[in-house]
Amino acid sequence: METPAVVYLAAEGYESVLAEELHRLGARVLWSRGRLFAVAGSVPPDAPRPCWAQDAWLSPRLFPIRSISHAARELKAMQRNWVLFPLACHRRAALIEAALPPVKQKPFCFGSPLPTAPLGGWCLLDANTLLASQERMSPFPHGKIVFAEDKDGPPSRAYLKLWEALTLLGRMPGKDDFCLDLGSSPGGWTWVLAHLGATVLSLDKAPLDNAVAAMPGVRYQARSAFSVAPREFAAVDWLCCDVICYPQRLVTMLRRWLEAENCRNFICTVKFQGDTDHATAESLRSIPGSRLVHLSHNKHELTWMLCRS
Ligand SMILES: C[S@@+](CC[C@H](N)C(=O)[O-])C[C@H]1O[C@@H](n2cnc3c(N)ncnc32)[C@H](O)[C@@H]1O
Repeated sequence: METPAVVYLAAEGYESVLAEELHRLGARVLWSRGRLFAVAGSVPPDAPRPCWAQDAWLSPRLFPIRSISHAARELKAMQRNWVLFPLACHRRAALIEAALPPVKQKPFCFGSPLPTAPLGGWCLLDANTLLASQERMSPFPHGKIVFAEDKDGPPSRAYLKLWEALTLLGRMPGKDDFCLDLGSSPGGWTWVLAHLGATVLSLDKAPLDNAVAAMPGVRYQARSAFSVAPREFAAVDWLCCDVICYPQRLVTMLRRWLEAENCRNFICTVKFQGDTDHATAESLRSIPGSRLVHLSHNKHELTWMLCRS
């Protein structure tokens, strides 16, 4: 069996979308099983990362294994911490996992630094074949951030997307920042931004939750995001956009903002209806310095981020 150069883990439920994307990227897929896609050939460091992969195993190796203890020995010889992706031979895999040092997986507190302890990924392909990778793209198991949630403050669970985006960026709006929140109702993102101490202009045709509207620093206007001209503002520190619209309409709006050069940071959800618009996603990904990712809290949508502070 050929050793893959990289193994991608598709975002849950978006395996076929990742398959389409890998095809467009010209990747040579050796095999795919469940959410795993094994890709052959050398992967240059500057090659675009598939957006629909929630994690990537960057140094995959195949090991023939004779027994449970043999598999556990091979893994422990490489490093301490491993996370199992359950793919096949579930009972055998669970017994190997039980023979490895325990890895604590506490919910992640927003604002904490990213985990730095190496955490490898492994699975059984069959009873006698172990696939393991010491290096992974994400510091979180299977690329999924499980937050210690705030069940009282935010009026919708959409705040988790913004928490995740800011966590991955490693940057936070602060008390001197002015943020525009487009498509803000009922107010999860505005709640995050105001909670961080930023000043927020929150725009939506639908109303903002009363408690969020009353937070210090929050101003709301009942207005379409597409009626806003960048020149209305001297400077915007963060433009956050979670508007439901066709991807091409979002790109057209973002191009106006980029041309105006008065906004430093962007976090925008790109929402798809029906088929995934890969061409528009590629046009966003090609904007220099930006990242386009499928957050673990995204549905059939991607998050485009550009951070210049
Ligand atoms: C997914 S919800 C946003 C959730 C929000 N980020 C939160 O955290 O609560 C999408 C929002 O886009 C708004 N929307 C749709 N078209 C819009 C437009 N042209 N201008 C502004 N908002 C729009 C909808 O009213 C809806 O509230």
